[in-house]
Amino acid sequence: MVRDATAEDAEAIASVHAAAWRDTYVGMLPEALIANFGYERVLPRWRERLPATPPQSILVWSEPVAGYAYSGPSRDGDPAHAGEVYAIYLTAERRGQGGGRALLAASAARLAAAGLASMVVWVLRDNHPARAFYERLGGRYVGARPLLWAGAEAAVEVAYGWADTAELRAPAPG
Ligand SMILES: CC(C)(COP(=O)(O)OP(=O)(O)OC[C@H]1O[C@@H](n2cnc3c(N)ncnc32)[C@H](O)[C@@H]1OP(=O)(O)O)[C@@H](O)C(=O)NCCC(=O)NCCS
Repeated sequence: MVRDATAEDAEAIASVHAAAWRDTYVGMLPEALIANFGYERVLPRWRERLPATPPQSILVWSEPVAGYAYSGPSRDGDPAHAGEVYAIYLTAERRGQGGGRALLAASAARLAAAGLASMVVWVLRDNHPARAFYERLGGRYVGARPLLWAGAEAAVEVAYGWADTAELRAPAPG
């Protein structure tokens, strides 16, 4: 159900990205920032990124595409967390069906294959459903910082880390 995204997936990923940003972040981030992540604005960025080359990976889940994850080397250079999942988003209708777990596990596997066996994710402090998801999948709270984006300095993001993603990468029992 999870596969590497190709250049042909750019539109589907942009569509999931824009819709998920709106339904997840309204009320959490300023409207002007959310508007910056509309479909027409994000599509060219996905066209540039695809296809991803290791150590980056862009994975999609389900057909038609109902979610994606984007990962690569940690952006803050923390040696304890060499890899990072930069983004993981599902369409609202397909949440809670195992897609997020499959995408996070597969992203961790891609990172490990590229020599990055530890991992971090940053998530808005107020995004409680996503935080519960990372905690359920073994992420340990690492710390907090203000969001670095212009116009959203009031928002705080928190990090969850995996010192070793081996357990996360292992197939679910049963
Ligand atoms: C966060 C997100 C990626 C999780 O994916 P998902 O497919 O909904 O989650 P899964 O069905 O794979 O759940 C995996 C596990 O986490 C648990 N979980 C998921 N969401 C949860 C929640 N809100 N509260 C408690 N547990 C939760 C599930 O119960 C499951 O555990 P189980 O296997 O023991 O039952 C998805 O819901 C999403 O796209 N949300 C909106 C966008 C977003 O916030 N992205 C993260 C930005 S940092």
